[in-house]
Amino acid sequence: MMRTLRCGELRTEHVGQTVTVCGWVNKRREHGEHLAFVDLRDHSGVVQCVVDNTVDVRSEYVLAITGTVRLRPEGTTNPELSTGEVEIHEATVEILSAAEPPVFPMDERADGVDEMVRLKHRYLDLRRARMQRNLRVRSQVNRSIREAMYAQDFVEVETPLLMPSTPEGAREFIVPARQRPGSFYALPQSPQLYKQLLMVGGLDRYFQIARCLRDEDLRADRQYEFTQLDMEMSFVDVDDVLDAVEVAVLDAAEAVTGVRPDEVARMTWHDAMERFGSDKPDLRFGMELVELTPIFADTGFKAFSTAGSIKGIKVDGGAADYGRNKLDNLTDEAKSFGAKGMVWLKVEADLTFNSPVAKFLSEDESRAIVSAFDAAEGDLILIIADEWSTTCEVLGELRNRIGRPPVSEGPYKYLWVTDFPLFVGVDAQTGQPRPGHHPFCHPHPDDIDKIADDPMSVRALAYDLVLNGWELGSGSIRIHDADLQRQVFAHLGISDEEADARFGFFLNPFRYGAPPHGGFAFGIDRLAAILAGEDNIREIIAFPKPQSGLDPMTLAPNEVDDRHLDELGIRVLPPAT
Ligand code: AMO
Repeated sequence: MMRTLRCGELRTEHVGQTVTVCGWVNKRREHGEHLAFVDLRDHSGVVQCVVDNTVDVRSEYVLAITGTVRLRPEGTTNPELSTGEVEIHEATVEILSAAEPPVFPMDERADGVDEMVRLKHRYLDLRRARMQRNLRVRSQVNRSIREAMYAQDFVEVETPLLMPSTPEGAREFIVPARQRPGSFYALPQSPQLYKQLLMVGGLDRYFQIARCLRDEDLRADRQYEFTQLDMEMSFVDVDDVLDAVEVAVLDAAEAVTGVRPDEVARMTWHDAMERFGSDKPDLRFGMELVELTPIFADTGFKAFSTAGSIKGIKVDGGAADYGRNKLDNLTDEAKSFGAKGMVWLKVEADLTFNSPVAKFLSEDESRAIVSAFDAAEGDLILIIADEWSTTCEVLGELRNRIGRPPVSEGPYKYLWVTDFPLFVGVDAQTGQPRPGHHPFCHPHPDDIDKIADDPMSVRALAYDLVLNGWELGSGSIRIHDADLQRQVFAHLGISDEEADARFGFFLNPFRYGAPPHGGFAFGIDRLAAILAGEDNIREIIAFPKPQSGLDPMTLAPNEVDDRHLDELGIRVLPPAT
């Protein structure tokens, strides 16, 4: 070994020993006429070395330093360093690699540096304590998950990256097939179909730490490439799947934070929408939606009399914080989320309202509103009247806008949301219902007879895991009957012929004895980010893409030369004007 210890490991117990440490020069300071201090850094910390000042080393030089450990002279200890009581003196320095001046400082000051600069020089960014910690958190999460899955008898299986296009929802990345010009593989959005086939294949319990690729707009919680803990189990019901996932997630959380989270709460999708206006409610704060529809059963107020659902939220003591401008902005936001308008009421001392619509509300209605919210002077009430889902969703967005702390701020509130609808809304392009999760979810047995006549009211045996308002993962019990699968495809506008052509490889195996099965996948990037205290998954990925998708370090995506394109049978069109 080149070194005897890591930089951050030196303690008083090493005093008198001769040691060799290796690392990067964190800082060099002159010390008197003949000596210099070199703070040497590796991933474990920093140690102070006293060297001859004729040695020509500067920031980020890579050195091996050998010397004797001694106590620092009295009055010069540094309680902020784990090695702050000692130093290496009479040190000899071997330069392993010289370095140009770094592009940005290697400490927290770099957090303020433009992210494109950090990503262009990611190898430098990774040297910083924050990124070192984050990638180690991620590694710990992977390790805990793997161990938890092995302990529960899951088998790790790798599934193909080159596969056919599937109907999972997101836009796919496609790969031209050289031996079949004009044909393409798709990169997996997830291993969904393969893992179901593994169940048909008798694997019983499968898991994979799976790379997935989706060509979607990048956001704080979305990358083109991301990693799932993907799993599937045979002969199980919903509870079995949730229990198995919970072990892995809670083990990982405990390994990183040192605290095992409480048992994960459960809520149906319908309750989550009713109470929080969201299928991924953030339970760290209240501001629950309050039902007002019955209060306005006979109202003369036009905006309310025609609405199917009227609900509101109360901002405690919010009247003073929200002046006219802020309320106008909030109203615009409500409209951008799909509302026709927003009613605001500021509660006065006599429990009447200061509001442009106060005059349209009867005394009884006003009293009933105050009582429904248990409102007090100085509170602000926001009301949305629309059809049920719009009312809930808009209030859910406003609630988050007003009350939601950053995702990484504790406490950690895990939640299972169950009984998602089988279909949600209608696809604007095709006019067909969209799948609530994906097309392979089993309808809820209590609703299965409604599937032909009233498909939109059918619940699925589908569930999500939510953490602090982020969707961590989702899953379901699957359809294991080819006829039922065809029926669901038909509702989604996929005909039998199309199903056979595109998914015959998936449907036919069901004829040969498919076990009932179900599974789940959660985003490791998202879990690791929150556990590391980060609000953006880019901070937990070694080499992420910025929002533009253009990698400033490698400059990917790049053009490829014509010979290569010819081989693939591809011609690039000029950009559309
Ligand atoms: P779903 O599409 O909900 O389900 O994905 C599961 C989880 O993967 C993570 N995730 C992402 N993370 C980062 N960037 C992205 N672009 C991205 N997209 C998804 C999220 C999400 O909750 N096959 C099903 C699972 C199943 O039914 O078993 C699936 O992939 O954390």
